[in-house]
Formats: sequence, structure tokens, C-alpha cells
Amino acid sequence: MNEKGDYMLIDILTIFPNMFTNIFDESIIKRAKEKNKVVINIHNFRDYSLDSHHKVDDVAYGGGAGMVLMPQPIFDCVLSLKKDYSKVILLTPSGIPYKQKMAYDLSKEKHLIIICGHYEGFDERIRKIVDLEISIGDYVLTGGEIPAMVLVDTITRLLPGVINEQSHLEDSFNDNLLDYPTYTKPRDFKGLKVPDILLSGDHKKIEEYRHKESLKKTKEIRPDLLEK
Ligand code: ADE
Repeated sequence: MNEKGDYMLIDILTIFPNMFTNIFDESIIKRAKEKNKVVINIHNFRDYSLDSHHKVDDVAYGGGAGMVLMPQPIFDCVLSLKKDYSKVILLTPSGIPYKQKMAYDLSKEKHLIIICGHYEGFDERIRKIVDLEISIGDYVLTGGEIPAMVLVDTITRLLPGVINEQSHLEDSFNDNLLDYPTYTKPRDFKGLKVPDILLSGDHKKIEEYRHKESLKKTKEIRPDLLEK
């Protein structure tokens, strides 16, 4: 949601803006943009560097491998975009693990500013302008661009009017359960049959069957979810 209307504004800060070419121009995000449910802007924070060569990084004080993002370009870019209701997010492997619940919470915001980290990391002082640090999983990517795409995708589909809200209720991870198996035509595919119960028309039995299958799958693949 935004002060100018009922859309969410997402500003993404990156030094690799070309990575975002076309990514938001397909499928559900494309439709959400066309319906003005979301506005996504990509900013190259190198453009904000006051250095004569538009430098954005330098070596670490105290030594260490790799380059570190300097605070100035990111500070100036964020401060030029920030409103009093903005939420500033930094993507880093040392952030809070991203979960569906966080996607729901963030889908209620009006304005997200997402900073994509890079190289060996960023100057610690960047944290001063950040509200939330997020990791999309326990692995290290080359930068925050793909995590930013993950955030935009997961959040945009939850915005009101983007997809049928019944679909979110049936998503995996609601109630800490994985999704139940689904089938479509044909009833018999190379001898693999659709379970009879799904053809029975008995909605109560179908619901019970689906819940049982969800539990079974979660126990097998993600027992950690059931412990919560
Ligand atoms: N940047 C590099 N790896 C990342 C991760 N797992 N999550 C968020 N940002 C990252």
C-alpha cells in the first residue's frame, strides 16, 4: 500500500541492475505491475558514489580478502528514497532466515527499500540505516540480487487482488504443513491412477485425505516443521 494509492512500492538498490532485466515482466508479477498493485524500481547505487571514478567498494581496514561496500553510496541512495514509513531491508547470509510468515508481514508494508550486498560484505555502518536483515537460506550467493527477486516474488503474490486469496490459504507452510498432492486429467496416466477418493465428490472425506497426506509428507520431508 502507498500514500498515493493502494499499491506497494519496492525500491531495489544494486550495482548489477541488468540482472533484473525481464525478471519482473512475466507471469503473476507482470500482471501485478499492470494492475498497479506493485511498482518496482531498480537503482544503481554506483550512480550515488561521490568518488570521481564512481567507486563503491574498498579493501577492509585490518586486512582480509575481498572488497567491502562503502557506506556513502548506499546511505545517499537510501536517504533519497526513504519516507517515514519505509522499511529498509539488507540482504545478507547473516540475516534472519526468511520464512513465509515474514513474506506475509512484509506484504502489509507500503514501501520496501531492498539493499543487495555484494563482494565480501559491506561496511558495518550501513546497518545504521537498516530496519531488517534477511537471509534467504543457509548458503552463500554471489550477491543479494537473487534474494531480492525471491522477496519480490513471494511478497507480490500476497498483495490483495494479485492472486485468488484462497490460493494463499492453501500454500505450503501455512499451519507449518507442506502442501498435499494434487492431480488433474487424465484419471489414468500410463497406469498411474488418481486416488479414488478425489473422484468421490465427498468433500469432507477429501479434506480429511488431504490433511492426512500433508501430515505424512511433512513428517517425511520436514519433521522440523511439526516440532514447532
Ligand atoms: N547474499 C549472499 N547470500 C545470501 C543469502 N543466503 N541470503 C541473502 N543475501 C545473500
